[in-house]
Amino acid sequence: MKIEHLRKPEDKGLFISLEGMDGAGKTTQMLQLKRHLEGQGLTVCMTREPGGTPISEKIRDLILSPEYGEMHPWTEALLYAAARAQHMAEVIAPALERDEVVLCDRFVDSSVAYQGAGRNLGMDEVYRINQRAIQYRLPDLTFWFDLTPEESFRRKSGRDPEDRLEQQDTTFYETIYQTYRQLAVDNPNRYVVVDARKTIPWIQKLLRCETDKRIHQLTHLHENPLNHPSNKQEEE
Ligand code: TYD
Repeated sequence: MKIEHLRKPEDKGLFISLEGMDGAGKTTQMLQLKRHLEGQGLTVCMTREPGGTPISEKIRDLILSPEYGEMHPWTEALLYAAARAQHMAEVIAPALERDEVVLCDRFVDSSVAYQGAGRNLGMDEVYRINQRAIQYRLPDLTFWFDLTPEESFRRKSGRDPEDRLEQQDTTFYETIYQTYRQLAVDNPNRYVVVDARKTIPWIQKLLRCETDKRIHQLTHLHENPLNHPSNKQEEE
């Protein structure tokens, strides 16, 4: 499924999301990438989904609580979208407009993979209900941490008791894994596949290299307004 986009003219910053199974090392990598970017004088907005605002964190507690095993899949999908709408309006969009780098742990691809494919609601349908919530924005760059469900479970054993979503069967996670693989193939301009079995420094080097490349392209766009896609369209 193709989920690529054009940047919004008012967005000056860079929007990066990180996707992948639990235990893939996203948090460690995000923190290191944040330090690297701040070292270049950039302002970084590090956030996560579901969550990132007081309202969205409340919704997160509701969705992930093991108490609500009876939650209907569409209730779940709409709650993720609701949390995301608030997150976009309150945190992500303002940060992008202020020229910051947004590092977001999970974004709409999680809903497409988990609710659309995993819960069988349909990837297109789930993406559609999210479009307004994300204000038609998508990340400029998505790092997908490629880690098989077996490896993820192995790494997690010995961690905290499972939340409601982690109590699913392995077919659910296998479907999600294959969906991300396909999203990476279908969206090569946005997706960078990260082999999560590599060492922490190796992965960090890849993340920095890809991010710096995008920042360089953006600076070029800012410095040469005529290169901006919206202006180019007018010229043609
Ligand atoms: P979290 O503990 O943050 O997991 P992780 O460390 O794997 O990111 O819990 C988030 C869970 O919510 C995770 O299992 C994925 C799921 N999720 C969805 O199903 N749909 C979504 O849109 C999002 C953002 C997360």
